[in-house]
Amino acid sequence: MNQLFSLALALCLSVSAFAQSETTTTKAHDYQPTAENMASRQAFQDAKFGIFLHWGLYSMLATGEWTMTNKNLNYKEYAKLAGGFYPSRFNAAAWVSAIKASGAKYICFTTRHHEGFSMFKTRYSDYNIVDATPFKRDILKELADECHKQGIRLHLYYSHIDWYREDAVWGRTGRGTGRPNPQGNWQRYYAFMNNQLTELLTNYGKIGAIWFDGWWDQQPDFDWQLEGQYQLIHRLQPACLVGNNHHTTPFQGEDIQIFERDLPGENNAGLSGQDISRLPLETCETMNGMWGYKITDQDYKSDTTLILYIVKAAGMNANLLMNIGPQPDGELPAVALERLQKVGQWMKVYGETIYGTRGGMVKPHDWGVTTQKDNRLFVHILNLHDRSLLLPIGKQRIKKAFVYDTKQPVKVERCQTGVVLTLPTALSKDCIDKIIEVQF
Ligand code: GLC
Repeated sequence: MNQLFSLALALCLSVSAFAQSETTTTKAHDYQPTAENMASRQAFQDAKFGIFLHWGLYSMLATGEWTMTNKNLNYKEYAKLAGGFYPSRFNAAAWVSAIKASGAKYICFTTRHHEGFSMFKTRYSDYNIVDATPFKRDILKELADECHKQGIRLHLYYSHIDWYREDAVWGRTGRGTGRPNPQGNWQRYYAFMNNQLTELLTNYGKIGAIWFDGWWDQQPDFDWQLEGQYQLIHRLQPACLVGNNHHTTPFQGEDIQIFERDLPGENNAGLSGQDISRLPLETCETMNGMWGYKITDQDYKSDTTLILYIVKAAGMNANLLMNIGPQPDGELPAVALERLQKVGQWMKVYGETIYGTRGGMVKPHDWGVTTQKDNRLFVHILNLHDRSLLLPIGKQRIKKAFVYDTKQPVKVERCQTGVVLTLPTALSKDCIDKIIEVQF
């Protein structure tokens, strides 16, 4: 009885804590990003490359993060996984060092995925890494401390879906996990999420972004009350960017636009037909084929493919968020580590043509893309069989053009629509990305 009472009290307090805060805020359609937020958007765009980490109880099942719903696993049985979660080899410093060495400038970590398990210490549910596992360590805290120490930005993935909680309203997915009440209890679940977000934005230092996912699980007219949630985030940390992987054009109150598995403007995976907004853009993609650890999927993209993604994303004015699914023992898969190293070697030499740039004045072409920083245009030639290349830059004057790494001059001839560059014969045919720097 006592327990019940304190639970009810805690709930009332948490609901009212949030309700109170809501009354002091303005409407999201009046959303004016603060100066800190604008600066954070710039820093985000400058960063260009991040690593996504999908880690949760599902990693133990080793079949990806959707196993709970795909196999209709009972929520109470599934929760027993927590009792055996002991990632003995987890070492935040090792993760962050390896990721930093790849040239990535931020990490996005799954604090709570659709399975509903919190990978951080939360007061609002015992179903969390500290209270429900023998590991008892706040993984997010260790990761956050290490990110802050090593100077890499931290973003937090947060699922709107929860296949475990009884108060989470049923959507298209998670219907077979045995939860009793399809209607759930929205007010309660909403308060729970906002309380957790408050913890995330209070207990872990500076957070670069909250990355929402799962909006698509309900009908489009479902009221997720995002306005209030976004305001809460911006009130707690004005520089924290809000992104939502809803697969549509951005809503009011969002600071970045997310694309899943396709670069902006492309739609091969079927999740990205939406228009491109003026907000900073980010595309997320998997390093093998799955977000969460999948033991049978060793089909990792080659380092060349990964580098090409980064370059193409930059040329399309977007960041690339490349995913790795850590193993249940707490290590990053060896193949992923090797890829990180290779990408890092390339970024060390050519990073200047990526970081801090924006999509260049020449739009993406079949032959490649351009990136630009002030008066420097980097022409990334990814697929060209001829030695000459037409750059449609109109009447724009050029001071000089040269091969980026060797500084060999490149011949420039004016033509009606711009200039024709003639590449030196010595330019290696098999380099991943032939970069020509053009200065205005
Ligand atoms: C999808 C999936 C989810 C994954 C996300 C990453 O929305 O539901 O499992 O975390 O994509 O982009």
